Amino acid sequence: MGKIAIDAERCISCGECVVVCPSILIAENGKIKVVDEEHCNLCGHCLAICSVEAIDHEDLDRREFVDLPQDLNISPEAIFTFLRSRRSCRVFAAKEVPKQSLEELIDIGRYAPTGHNSQNFEFLVIQNKELIRELAKRTAVFYGNLYKMLSAPGVNPPPWLQGHMRGFRLNWEYHLEGKDRIFRNAPALIIIHAPAENVSSAQNCHLAMAHIMFQAQAMVLGTCIIGYFITAVERDPSIVKELDIPQNNKIFTCCTVGYPKLTFRKLVQRKPPAVRWM
Ligand SMILES: Cc1cc2nc3c(=O)[nH]c(=O)nc-3n(C[C@H](O)[C@H](O)[C@H](O)COP(=O)(O)O)c2cc1C
Repeated sequence: MGKIAIDAERCISCGECVVVCPSILIAENGKIKVVDEEHCNLCGHCLAICSVEAIDHEDLDRREFVDLPQDLNISPEAIFTFLRSRRSCRVFAAKEVPKQSLEELIDIGRYAPTGHNSQNFEFLVIQNKELIRELAKRTAVFYGNLYKMLSAPGVNPPPWLQGHMRGFRLNWEYHLEGKDRIFRNAPALIIIHAPAENVSSAQNCHLAMAHIMFQAQAMVLGTCIIGYFITAVERDPSIVKELDIPQNNKIFTCCTVGYPKLTFRKLVQRKPPAVRWM
C-alpha cells in the first residue's frame, strides 16, 4: 500500500491531478494511477485541485486543505498600491509586538514557494532586549573595525566599497553615542536560516521574508531587512555565538519588527524599470 491513495469510488477521472502533477500521477485506461511516488515533494497540488476529494496522502493532513475562500476580491489595483506602500521602518514605537502577531508572521512565511518544496528554512525570533542590544553592539563593533581597517594609510578600497564607508563609520559612531543604528531599537528580530549548501536556500529564505514583511504591513507592523547584520555575521560568526544556529546552516536574512512610530503620507518614486523585451 503506497502513501498516495486514490478513492476509485469518488474519482471521476477528470485528469486535473495528472495535469498539475505530471510526474507522480498518470492517466491510464481511464483511471488515475500513482507512479514513482517516492519523488512526491508534498506540494499538495493534487489534493488542492481534486473536486471530489478523492486523493489522500499519508504525509499530508487533509484538514489543512480548507476550501479556498470565494470572496477574496482583492483588486489588482489594491494589491499594487499595497505592495507599493510598504516602507522600511526605522523608527519604532516603544511597544512590544505580541507573541501571537509574531507567530502569525512566521506562519505565513512558511507558505512562500521553496525549491522542490523543501521548506528548509528555520526561523529565529528574538524579543530579548538585552540580546538584541548585544547583537547590535557586536555588529557595530564589526563595522568600526572594518572602517578603521579600510581607512588605514596605504589602504585604497575600490569605489564600490568606498561608497559604503560612511555607513560603516556611522554604525560605529552611533554605537559610541549609545544609539543603535543596526536594529534601531526594534522590539523584535526575525532571523531566517537554512542549510548553507542547498542551492535554493537563499531564495527560500528571502521569499519567506517577503511574505513576512507584507503580512506585517497588513497587520500595521513595521519591518526592515538588516543587511548590515547579515554581512557582519557572514564574516564574523562569533557575533551570533549564542543563537545556536545549526553548524550546517547559514543566516540568509534578518528583519526588525515593531510598531512604526511614524506614518508615511506619500508613495515614493522608483527608477524606471531596466527591462528588455525579447
Ligand atoms: C538586502 C537588503 C539589505 C538591507 N539592509 C538594510 C540595513 O542594514 N539597514 C537598513 O536600515 N535598511 C536596510 N535595507 C532597507 C533598504 O535600505 C530599503 O529597502 C531601501 O532604502 C528602500 O526603501 P523602502 O524599503 O522603504 O522602500 C535593506 C534592504 C535590503 C533589500
